[in-house]
Amino acid sequence: MLLEITDLAVAYGRIEALHGISIQVDAGEIVTLIGANGAGKSTTMRAISGLRPASRGSIIFDGEDITNLRADLRVTRGISQAPEGRGIFPGMSVMENLDMGTYARKDRRSPARDADLERVFALFPRLKERRTQVAGTMSGGEQQMLTIGRALMARPRLLLLDEPSMGLAPMLIQQIFSIIKEINAQGITVLVVEQNAQQALSIADRAYILETGSIVKSGQGRDMLGDPAIKAAYLGVA
Ligand SMILES: Nc1ncnc2c1ncn2[C@@H]1O[C@H](COP(=O)(O)OP(=O)(O)O)[C@@H](O)[C@H]1O
Ligand SMILES: [Mg+2]
Repeated sequence: MLLEITDLAVAYGRIEALHGISIQVDAGEIVTLIGANGAGKSTTMRAISGLRPASRGSIIFDGEDITNLRADLRVTRGISQAPEGRGIFPGMSVMENLDMGTYARKDRRSPARDADLERVFALFPRLKERRTQVAGTMSGGEQQMLTIGRALMARPRLLLLDEPSMGLAPMLIQQIFSIIKEINAQGITVLVVEQNAQQALSIADRAYILETGSIVKSGQGRDMLGDPAIKAAYLGVA
């Protein structure tokens, strides 16, 4: 098991956003966390990457308790997050943004970094074409690719994706999800949170449903696609 979250609670001030959730991710899997707006998906991601403290529970990564570990040290351990809403540096070039992804690495000026860059460019040829462009002037889809590319530059073992399909046209959504599958096929474990359940469930090995801070259901991605309750709540089918 690569990631084991047990009874995790996270609060904003006095308001508890996660009420003790448990999630497991095995090495090599794609796991998706599905939930409506406000369910606590981003809060879960922030807790895993160390941007938000746990008020209860534990987070074990590759056998190590990282519940109270600093965020930058979690990146060093192999956890990298592509945050919600693209989160790029809009005034910096594509190349500069990608290099920001390597900040926690000791070998950032090494041939390994160049190899990682080539791998990102192979996944996202558009980023190679646009390497000198100011990131904020790129399209929404290109910025999303850059967010994922930057996260990959940290050479993660676990990639956290927070709503990668948000605001994208349907064709681009398909493309992003097929790239996620490709990233996973290269050996990177993926935890992806989504409101877009259809696409996420169709690529996921397993899925968890999050409702107002609690996990209410879990199972195989494909089984969930056929589940009438899931269909009604998350797939826009009555
Ligand atoms: N910075 C914050 N301060 C206070 N409350 C927050 C903050 N961020 C999120 N919340 C609250 O926590 C809950 C979960 O939010 P979030 O994790 O962003 O949900 P999701 O990503 O599923 O849309 C919501 O009720 C939201 O209003
Ligand atoms: Mg969110």
